[in-house]
Amino acid sequence: MKRYRRLTVPEISARKASGRPVSMVTCYDHWTARILNETDVDCLLVGDSVAMVVHGHDSTVHADTEMMALHVSAVSRGAPDKLVIADMPFLAARKGLKAAMDAVQSLMQAGAHAIKIEGEEGISELIAHIVESGVPVMGHLGLTPQSVHALGGMRVQGRDDPAVQALLRSAGRLAEAGCFAMVLECVPAAVGKQVAAAVDIPVIGIGAGADTDGQVLVLQDLLGADPSFKPRFVRRYLDLHGDIQKAVNRFHADVHGRAFPDARESYA
Ligand code: KIV
Repeated sequence: MKRYRRLTVPEISARKASGRPVSMVTCYDHWTARILNETDVDCLLVGDSVAMVVHGHDSTVHADTEMMALHVSAVSRGAPDKLVIADMPFLAARKGLKAAMDAVQSLMQAGAHAIKIEGEEGISELIAHIVESGVPVMGHLGLTPQSVHALGGMRVQGRDDPAVQALLRSAGRLAEAGCFAMVLECVPAAVGKQVAAAVDIPVIGIGAGADTDGQVLVLQDLLGADPSFKPRFVRRYLDLHGDIQKAVNRFHADVHGRAFPDARESYA
């Protein structure tokens, strides 16, 4: 079996200079973490998308620190050989220094090696403080789903020059604040390229084109878990939805046909 060594935060940052892209997928639970631990993927994100994908909420606004810490601890126990990054949930970085640091403490003590924070405006000093406290921070710009209502929906960002200039300023400030990398979500490919060229830390894209320094996808999207959800930027590598249904229907047929269990699956 191939053995993996957990990448460090400085190794992820160094990918910018080496030109080797960073691959990241979301992971929310222990059994999936055990599978991903034995894959080539560079790092795992316990995203607040867990609120939607696992808990069935209509947005990531419903994730809180308790929910995130529970999933982080399950993932970190299952994937000891992967760098685990945890999302700061909705408003956790906006309720003052103490509340923010308490949330960071919970996520790190649950097993995260770094945290990801959405947005930059109004929180760059907080981000610098977290970094100076010894906690690696990944930024997140472009479409920031926690701001879905302010953005008027899950829309492509950076569509006009003022928006692109604002993105470039924020990206620069995140790098200055000490972020080791940043996610850039749902911007035109040309903007993805521009932002990646403007900063000296890896820009990990999702719906940000091919010229960023890495790519991240929600695992369930790349596995095809939900056939009704197919944004433009997702590539499906499996028909998980169909394959699970086929397997469960075979089990059901075997039970009804009295073909399961057989002698080998029964105690003598
Ligand atoms: O929560 C999440 O899954 C994310 C990714 C989409 C980057 O933030």
